[in-house]
Amino acid sequence: MKRTTLLSAIALASLVTVSACGGGAGADGAAPAAEETTAAAEAAPAAEATPAAEATPAAADAAAAGATAGFAGMTTDVKAGEKVFALCKSCHVLEEGVNRVGPSLYNVVGRKSGSVAGYSYSEANKNSGVTWTTDVLFKYLEDPKGFMPGTKMAFPGIKDAQDRANLVAYLESTKK
Ligand code: HEC
Repeated sequence: MKRTTLLSAIALASLVTVSACGGGAGADGAAPAAEETTAAAEAAPAAEATPAAEATPAAADAAAAGATAGFAGMTTDVKAGEKVFALCKSCHVLEEGVNRVGPSLYNVVGRKSGSVAGYSYSEANKNSGVTWTTDVLFKYLEDPKGFMPGTKMAFPGIKDAQDRANLVAYLESTKK
C-alpha cells in the first residue's frame, strides 16, 4: 500500500516535470527531473512515520533496540497497534472461524501456523512448522515473503519496528 503511494508520487512528479519542460528536453530538462523525483522519494517516508515513532527519543531507542532484541525489547502501545491493524483488515478478521482472503486471526498469538480449519493455505504456510509467538510475528510481519518464502500473503510488510511491535501487542491483547 505504501509502496504504491510512493510509486505514484514518483510517477506524478515525473509527469509534472515532463509537461513543465515541454519541448525543451535536453541537458537543461534533466536536472529538474532528477530533483523532483528525489523530493517525492523523500516525502513518502516522512508521511509514513507515525507519531508513536517520532514522539520521544526513548521511542526511537526502543525501535532501534527492537532491531536486535526482538519484540521483548520493545515498549508497546496497544491502542496504536489497533490502528496499525487497519493494514490487515482488507484480508483478515479477528472473529473465530471467519476466513477472508487470509485466515481468521482469532487467537493468532500462540497458534500453530496453517491450523485454521476450512482455510486453504499455501504449502509454504501450512508446512512452515512455525508457531505464531509474539516474537515470530514481529519478525514475520517485517517481511512476510522473506521470512516465509512461498507464502501467498500479498503484503509487503511493516518496516517500522515500533508500528510492528504495537500491532503484535494489539493482536496479543485480543487473545481470549
Ligand atoms: C492482501 C491480503 C493480506 C493482507 C493485507 C494481510 N494478509 Fe496475512 N495472510 C494473507 C493470506 C492470503 C494468508 C495465507 C498465506 C498462505 O497460505 O500462504 C495470510 C496469512 C497470515 C498469517 C499466518 C496465519 C496462519 O494461520 O498460519 C498471519 C499471522 C498473518 N497473515 C498476519 C497478517 C497481519 C498481522 C496483517 C497486517 C499487518 C496481514 N496478515 C495482512 C493475506 C493478507
